[in-house]
Order: sequence, then C-alpha cells, then structure tokens
Amino acid sequence: MTSFLHFKSNVFLAPMAGITDAPMRNIVYGKCKDKVNIISEMVAINALSRKNAKTYKIADVRGEPYPVIVQLVGASPELFADAAQLAVELGASAIDINMGCPVRKITTTGAGSALMKDIKSAEQIIKAVKNAINLDVSVKFRKGWDENSINAVDFAKMCQDCGASYVTIHGRTRAQGYSGVADWKIIADVKNSLNIPVIGNGDINSVYDAKEMIRQTGVNGVMIGRAALGNPWLLGQIFDYLQTSKQPDKISTEEILNTVLYHVELLKKYYDEKLAVALSRKYVCWYSKNFYDAKKFRENYMKITDYQNAIEEIKQYFTLAVREEK
Ligand SMILES: Cc1cc2nc3c(=O)[nH]c(=O)nc-3n(C[C@H](O)[C@H](O)[C@H](O)COP(=O)(O)O)c2cc1C
Repeated sequence: MTSFLHFKSNVFLAPMAGITDAPMRNIVYGKCKDKVNIISEMVAINALSRKNAKTYKIADVRGEPYPVIVQLVGASPELFADAAQLAVELGASAIDINMGCPVRKITTTGAGSALMKDIKSAEQIIKAVKNAINLDVSVKFRKGWDENSINAVDFAKMCQDCGASYVTIHGRTRAQGYSGVADWKIIADVKNSLNIPVIGNGDINSVYDAKEMIRQTGVNGVMIGRAALGNPWLLGQIFDYLQTSKQPDKISTEEILNTVLYHVELLKKYYDEKLAVALSRKYVCWYSKNFYDAKKFRENYMKITDYQNAIEEIKQYFTLAVREEK
C-alpha cells in the first residue's frame, strides 16, 4: 500500500521538538517531495492560548508550500479545541495529538504519555478536537506508560472509537524514553486490532528496516525520526524502495555540501543570523557524520558564533570531502 486517506505517501517524517522546525521541514520536503508527509514539532496548547510569540511562530505553517500536519500537546480538552481551530487558521492540513511525549515537564501536567494513564481525559481531548475542526485528527502514542501498564491496543481502540482518522504507535514505553529497542510486536498487535490506518514508528534506520517493519507488522505507513537527522533524503528513498526494492543511489558529497549550506541559509531566514549559527550546530554535526575527521571539524564548528565564518567553515570542510570522493 502506498497511500491512505488523502495522503499521497505512506512515509511520515516524525515530529521532533527543536528539530523538525520550518527549515528542517523545508529541507526534507525539498529532497522527498510528495513521497513524504510532513508533521510539525509539537505545539504546546497552553502557550498557544496565551499567544506566546515563540509558540505561535511554531504553529504558523502558512508560509510552507506543502501540507503540514500540526501536532498539539496539552491536557485540557477546551484548550485543545481552541488550539486545533487556531492551528487550522494558521495553515495546518490536519491535527495530530501528542499522547506519547515522555518528558517530565510535559507528563507532570497530565499531557503527552501521561494521557495513556488517563483514558477519560484522552477520550475527551480527541472528541473535543474532532468536534472543533473538519480535518483529519490523529493520535500518536506509545506502547504504554511502563512494562507493567502496556495498554497500546486498548488505547488505540479508544482512539478509533473517538473518531481518530489514523493512529501512530511508537513501540516504546514512556519509561524507556528513547532507549532500548522499539517493540514491533505491539505495533503488529495494534494494527491487527483496528480498522483505521496504523503508522508504525521506532528504530527504522534504513530503507530495509522500513520494508521489514511493514512485513512484520502489516502497518499502513511508517514514521521516521532520528534516522532522518543529517539524512533528509532517506524518507524519499524509503518510499521508492517500498515500490521497487531497488537500492537507493549514494548521495554525492557535493549535494550534501549544497544541502548543508541551504539549510543554514534557511535557518538565517527563519530566525536570525545569531540564532541560525547556534541552531545550525546540531544539524551540521549530523550532516558530517560518516565524514573523514568529522570530530575535529565539529569541535571547530561548535566554537563559531559568526554567520559568515560558519559558512566558510562548512564550505572548507565539505569541499575537501568532495575532492576526496572524486
Ligand atoms: C529530539 C526528539 C524530539 C522529539 N519530539 C517529539 C515531538 O515533539 N512529538 C512527538 O510526538 N514525538 C517526538 N519525538 C519522538 C519521535 O517522533 C519518534 O517517535 C521517536 O524518535 C522514535 O522514532 P525513531 O526511532 O524513528 O527516531 C521526539 C524524538 C526526539 C529524538
């Protein structure tokens, strides 16, 4: 299966707070086009209701020339309904509800994965968002809170009963955070228990992993997070591989160089020069993984605070790498 609902692809970029911002989404979409579905980083509904400028900017996807599913996180059904309406006004193509975030700051407010322990509130939230907007509403959640309270199957059924268009399951418990191994068996169990589409997430690091998850679990789609860091081509490659089983072509170092430069330029346009340099550090490190002497380059890059110096450093390092490859 290559598509479901109105989505053109069954491959989804995972929401990642502080990472899948507008510049990153632009880069991933630029490389993968309609082979990927794009999701925002999570938007805190409490901050959005206070019209917090930073949060408002995260929620505003009107400048992006491709559909963006906006993910909301919070605990109040009323605020969720308002936030969903506002997100739609700000350009969201669909709304995803975060019921999987493991971070303490979030769960102690009753939001994120804490909702897996509070089914009543989870139900009210999904119904409130469904009533508030006419677009697809989906839910992203985990295997359960911890190994003693694994409830993904029942939770998924509840999401379906409340009108979710599809669900995404990350095969880890809240207690695992991002460590350990994602449990694909629970993903299969969720898939086998629902009539709505199910997206599988967790530990897809290659085109082969994506195909294997679909084979093992029967999911309708796959979601990829960390493996896309420094490799925005991967999601399009996964889409192609699922159709053709042909090995993806190697991305040239020249293209990587141009992508890094464009990414940093986008950061400058979206934020400002100073913030762009600071934020670029993590992305530039990810792009340089697998490159010769990357450790030394990263050490140097971390010290740079001036935009033009950052560009020069990137050019110098990746250009040398281009020469080495030819
Ligand atoms: C830095 C970081 C930030 C994340 N932020 C979010 C988020 O905002 N919303 C969400 O639902 N999941 C978030 N996640 C979880 C990912 O969407 C995904 O479920 C997880 O990384 C497992 O997929 P992977 O193995 O492909 O990385 C985040 C993960 C990371 C590493």
